[in-house]
Amino acid sequence: MISVIDVHKSYTKDKETIRGVSFDVHEGEIFGLLGPNGAGKTTLMQMISTLMKPTSGRIVIDGLTSDKDLLEIHKKIGFLTNEIKLDPLSTPNRLFDFFAELYDIPKAELDTRKQESFERFGIGPFADKKIHELSTGMKQKISIAISLIHNPPIIIFDEPTNGLDILTSKQVTDYLKELKEQGHAIILSTHIFSVAEELCDDIAVLVDGRIAAQGSVEELIALTETESFEQAFFKIYVENHVE
Ligand SMILES: Nc1ncnc2c1ncn2[C@@H]1O[C@H](COP(=O)(O)OP(=O)(O)O)[C@@H](O)[C@H]1O
Ligand SMILES: [Mg+2]
Repeated sequence: MISVIDVHKSYTKDKETIRGVSFDVHEGEIFGLLGPNGAGKTTLMQMISTLMKPTSGRIVIDGLTSDKDLLEIHKKIGFLTNEIKLDPLSTPNRLFDFFAELYDIPKAELDTRKQESFERFGIGPFADKKIHELSTGMKQKISIAISLIHNPPIIIFDEPTNGLDILTSKQVTDYLKELKEQGHAIILSTHIFSVAEELCDDIAVLVDGRIAAQGSVEELIALTETESFEQAFFKIYVENHVE
């Protein structure tokens, strides 16, 4: 569904931020990009979502590439990142209508999807409140619902539980598990290893713009000859990070 092939990215001449990353993500799979701040998670996800071009390498989305099929790719992807903020003066209702129009979603379908996500995330009572009056958790839930308004087969979520309380965080992780069961291909980035441990089928530990190790939780523990995923993560990090 998603193939990342030897992708490199330099923001400046003297530093390579992404240094040759390759991986594949399949339908019904949650792929985790786990790494500390600055590892390059957001950079990679922005390239996969076509918001930014790699310096070299290729990204293929369901057989499509962004040099030819940009619009087709956009229809297939739901992208969530903390870097994009909701209009503080708009309301959940108006934002849903706006994005539905952007994606050409018929009115009847919009109404069903709106009702579904408003119910799931308890957005209903806040539907006509201004975004800036809402809590961080509520804003995040609205962002998630909007990013998936077109029911995309591919979901790319950059640190989706960042800054959320445990209850909201659980709502988000439960939803991701449900989406996986429905067959979506999901890429998730996080710096919290417990999130990766709970959700991901395959985890790439990203250290300084490179995949230092990749596998399931069990495989990474076996590979590092450690006793827990936490120990495995730290061992991989220490062995690969160069100051
Ligand atoms: N627009 C940019 N211009 C220059 N450097 C950037 C830019 N965006 C990110 N970086 C740098 O790239 C590295 C990786 O950043 P990022 O992809 O945001 O990592 P992460 O999401 O894992 O925290 C960091 O060193 C960051 O400072
Ligand atoms: Mg980031």
